Amino acid sequence: MTLNSIGLDTKKTEELANDLNGLLANFQLYYQNLRGIHWNIKGRGFFDLHVKFEELYTDANVKVDEIAERILTLGATPLHTFEDYTKAGKVPVGKNISKDEKAVELIVNSLSELLKIERSILSAAGDANDEGTGSMMSDFITEQEKTVWMMKAWLGETV
Ligand SMILES: [Fe+2]
Repeated sequence: MTLNSIGLDTKKTEELANDLNGLLANFQLYYQNLRGIHWNIKGRGFFDLHVKFEELYTDANVKVDEIAERILTLGATPLHTFEDYTKAGKVPVGKNISKDEKAVELIVNSLSELLKIERSILSAAGDANDEGTGSMMSDFITEQEKTVWMMKAWLGETV
């Protein structure tokens, strides 16, 4: 087994960086979904939801940067073109959504896909002894599960 400059298995780290690029791409799609509903939302809930969606995309923007910089820390190059993001897309793309329920459902469905990717990376990070990536995934998962709960509460659904 070869170790890289931060003491991690070179081969496993390459695979992890690849998976993180998949997460990065899907986070960008989620971010763009949030911009879309922030702009297009209509109805009596406008003032609440417009602000809530901005809060979520601001948070997503910070996480996108954390993921990209983790990829660089692991010695790889973060994806940065729309072309690459679309190719790696698992998050549903919401277009011209203006109804509150559809917007909130889009968030739940997007986060469900991100959570799947993050859990898989968490497991691979454990296997590679990569605590940095693992703890980042743990934090994201905890926050996003809470957001899913709140969005489902708003929808009147149970988890
Ligand atoms: Fe705005």
